[in-house]
Amino acid sequence: MSALVVSRNPRVVSLVQQSWGPDAYALAADPFPPSVQSLMSELEGAPFPTVAVLDPVEWMQDGLSLAADLDQSFGVPVVLVTDRANELGLAAMRAGVRDIVHPMAPLEEMKQALERAASHAASEGPQPGAPGAAAPQRGKVVTVASPKGGVGKTTVSTNLAVGLAMREPNSTVLVDLDIHFGDVATALNVAPEFTLPDMAHGPASRDSVALKSYLTQHQTGLFVVPGSDSPAAADAVSPKEAGNLLNMLADQFKFVVVDTSPGLSEHTLSVLDQTDILVLVTSLDVPGVRGLRKELDTLRDISIVLDSRAVVLNFMHPSRGISVADVEASIGRKVDLQLPQSNAVPISVNQGKPLLQQGSRDPVAKQLKALVDLVAAGDEVQAKGRRFLDFAKKGDKS
Ligand SMILES: Nc1ncnc2c1ncn2[C@@H]1O[C@H](COP(=O)(O)OP(=O)(O)OP(=O)(O)O)[C@@H](O)[C@H]1O
Ligand SMILES: [Mg+2]
Repeated sequence: MSALVVSRNPRVVSLVQQSWGPDAYALAADPFPPSVQSLMSELEGAPFPTVAVLDPVEWMQDGLSLAADLDQSFGVPVVLVTDRANELGLAAMRAGVRDIVHPMAPLEEMKQALERAASHAASEGPQPGAPGAAAPQRGKVVTVASPKGGVGKTTVSTNLAVGLAMREPNSTVLVDLDIHFGDVATALNVAPEFTLPDMAHGPASRDSVALKSYLTQHQTGLFVVPGSDSPAAADAVSPKEAGNLLNMLADQFKFVVVDTSPGLSEHTLSVLDQTDILVLVTSLDVPGVRGLRKELDTLRDISIVLDSRAVVLNFMHPSRGISVADVEASIGRKVDLQLPQSNAVPISVNQGKPLLQQGSRDPVAKQLKALVDLVAAGDEVQAKGRRFLDFAKKGDKS
């Protein structure tokens, strides 16, 4: 249990250190950090505190906004130091501040305020289900991949992630691992402050609570790790760092959905090591289907055996001259899901609103919803009396 005091006043720092003991540490921030992520970047790897004492002096607005962020999003109780208790009481209460202590208060007063805050932290703990509260067991990593580009990976991954997030709040994070050309942020119409490289290095890569403060939240409650907007920054993210990020997210979220770049890049391979369900997408054309056959063979040759796999055939249209049976014969296994070609898809992308967010009744949306149900259930689902999604189980030689 540690206490953090953010203050430039040596008397306040000393009050906290005497009250709390050796696990109290101080930060003399100037200016005051207004959010948890700016606080974390100043802390440079120091442990996340159990309680925080904030002494913002002239940056009271920033102090209250940090207090609200710490209390509401991270369950860290805050003691505010100010000589304007009467004037600020209501605003402090609204920000979730537990106690107000005068900078000239006697030691005993600070001690009692910290004890009350600490007992509160111990009794409440992190909110269940909230990122930051460890998941009871490791979440499922669902990776969406394809040998070729432009076949519908981002369409599938964004809809799958949105569908899972809408079923259960705080359950799902979507990672854009198409590190150079990722377009998840555009498909979801979010304007991220932080992207993958910010989370793969620095404080967020070492502390799962800090990591949460870097995620972008979508209207549906989905959390997002957007791809980099700078190719140079993306190059600095190693496959190992990407794997580490995924590992941390899987400890915090029930579902980690990963969108990838075409082919088996080093980053995709490092993620496959941790993948529970692989969703392979292909378009209904000869090069796409041949590419998929090769990818399945390669995965088998490099001994990547996954618990579950699903093959999604996209751009279904009778005029294409290939049937599902042709595809199944070519890849040597069953096709699990068929997405019709539909204008609803590009329209939803242009609107920045995935079909499952819109509650669309388009046939594509129905199939995507079936994928969500399958992943959520972790098992086969029945549709119209026939088994229409059939995940290959571990050891499948297809
Ligand atoms: N079933 C469909 N019907 C019509 N258009 C579709 C369908 N699926 C995807 N599209 C469109 O095809 C384009 C490519 O889709 P998407 O971005 O999902 O593919 P991708 O595999 O992620 O591509 P990349 O490899 O470039 O990342 C998009 O414009 C999308 O709107
Ligand atoms: Mg894509």
